Amino acid sequence: MAGITDADFLNKVIPYGFNVATLGGYSLDRPTIEASKKIIERGRKEFHFPEDVIFNHIENEVASIKKVHSNVKVSANVRSTTPQPIIEIGNIKDLDIVEINCHCRQNEILDIGCGQEMLKRDDLSDFISQIVDNVDSEVSVKIRANVEGIDTLNIANLIEDAGADYLHIDAMKKGVFEADWELLREICNNVSIKVIGNNSVNSQENVKKMIDTGVYGFSIARSIISGNLDFNITNF
Ligand SMILES: Cc1cc2nc3c(=O)[nH]c(=O)nc-3n(C[C@H](O)[C@H](O)[C@H](O)COP(=O)(O)O)c2cc1C
Repeated sequence: MAGITDADFLNKVIPYGFNVATLGGYSLDRPTIEASKKIIERGRKEFHFPEDVIFNHIENEVASIKKVHSNVKVSANVRSTTPQPIIEIGNIKDLDIVEINCHCRQNEILDIGCGQEMLKRDDLSDFISQIVDNVDSEVSVKIRANVEGIDTLNIANLIEDAGADYLHIDAMKKGVFEADWELLREICNNVSIKVIGNNSVNSQENVKKMIDTGVYGFSIARSIISGNLDFNITNF
């Protein structure tokens, strides 16, 4: 969660049973950094680091987590309009996963063709495979489900074919307060890539619903900051 999930925050929540911790999202190139500035100006939380310090910042954050939780995989969720800055982050020593953000829906990010607008790029497959081919870390692609004009299953197949290791999917469905369990099930039945399900894991009941879809793993965001995480996820 941009502006929230730094190393200090993650070190506090990892003991709830997480085996992957995601830093960011971070903006890496000039267009996304400028967009982040505008988002901050209208009062929303964001991480904001200039291009010349962001690499060292993430490197230090990874080290801060590994020092305390050496067995946890550390991921960095990043936005960029071009692959090169993402490749640099994916080669940070000890960073386990670089996560390409094709999920953000803040207008300033959409206006520059980034975040969930990435799902509409003709060169998305090439963008992902350039990163896969040039980083030491694993590669995750975070997407939002049910984006207008986008067939989520087709995108899932494209991401798998591009060579990514994980498909991290916010299974949001407009007008519904739970994840789109049906869609998650359909995707899990039709791809081989490791699917990380996300959205509305805020109770033991929803953890069970999420696991029943066939996901490889799942992630939790809002119920951590709301303090509603009243269960240890290793119990499932
Ligand atoms: C304040 C806030 C900031 C977020 N920032 C990011 C981000 O930077 N990158 C990202 O991929 N998702 C971001 N998200 C989305 C969450 O990671 C997650 O996909 C979404 O909230 C649904 O999952 P949940 O129901 O567990 O909260 C953010 C969510 C919130 C509430």
